[in-house]
Amino acid sequence: MIKHEQQAGVLKIVFDRPEKKNSFTGAMYRTLREVLIAGDLDPAVKVILLSGAGNIFSAGNDIQDFINSPITLEDAPPITLLRTLAELKKPLIAAVDGFAVGIGSTLLFHCDLVYAQKDARFIFPFIALGLVPEGAITLLMPRLIGHQRSSEILFFGEPVSAQEAQKLGFVNKVILESSALQYAEERAKVLTAMSFGSLLQTKALLKSGRLKSEILEQIDAEASLFMERLKGPAAKEALSAFMEKRVPKFKDLD
Ligand code: COA
Repeated sequence: MIKHEQQAGVLKIVFDRPEKKNSFTGAMYRTLREVLIAGDLDPAVKVILLSGAGNIFSAGNDIQDFINSPITLEDAPPITLLRTLAELKKPLIAAVDGFAVGIGSTLLFHCDLVYAQKDARFIFPFIALGLVPEGAITLLMPRLIGHQRSSEILFFGEPVSAQEAQKLGFVNKVILESSALQYAEERAKVLTAMSFGSLLQTKALLKSGRLKSEILEQIDAEASLFMERLKGPAAKEALSAFMEKRVPKFKDLD
């Protein structure tokens, strides 16, 4: 489900549940978080690299899991994971092939470098699911691309192509010839040969000042609305509709 291997200073983490489009269960979030924390503390790890198996990055939270065990203040594995990502000290690279949906897209805003294969698609379907965005995306996205562009993406939830994402600035490079992973591995290798101290301090400086605390505050503010909405009628309808492979009916549902 979450595979990982360490090779020449690079911790490679793979979301590996292709039969469910690498959607995350509670157990996967927990393992992913443990692996990230261990990698961040391990002196042998210089760079962390995220990718998905089977030509898809991730379809976001497992929707059946949301129905069966909605996240709560006491137990919110996706929110805990997002906080860990926001506080990670080591350089974090994502290689995106195929779809990145929901948290599969929001987590990219906590990566330092994002490489996408030319057919990659980014979807932020929170309103379509009767929810609100998470992962401080309502802070990080407008900061990067502006309010109106963020509203277009978050209100409509339509797929953003790799080329568009690069133009907007949340993808560093679109990979035309090889897989995004191959390119990301090459970039990670370049980083491992650099002065590690300089690299760590540069990442820390990029995230210094009020930014980190603002991100953590926004993650929490979004999470409390998200959890409330998850129990509401619109989200219940949208999540059941997805599992039943039908179009949701939002009429009169807030
Ligand atoms: N949670 C649970 N199961 C999921 C899932 C998710 N987030 N995303 C996909 N799956 C399952 C499907 O139910 C299907 O299962 P089945 O084979 O038992 O019917 C299987 O994965 C394949 O998905 P399918 O939708 O048929 O693949 P696709 O290639 O046509 O579409 C996506 C891929 C990613 C565009 C589509 O699956 C999708 O939109 N997923 C939902 C994403 C979402 O809204 N995530 C946000 C959650 S907050």
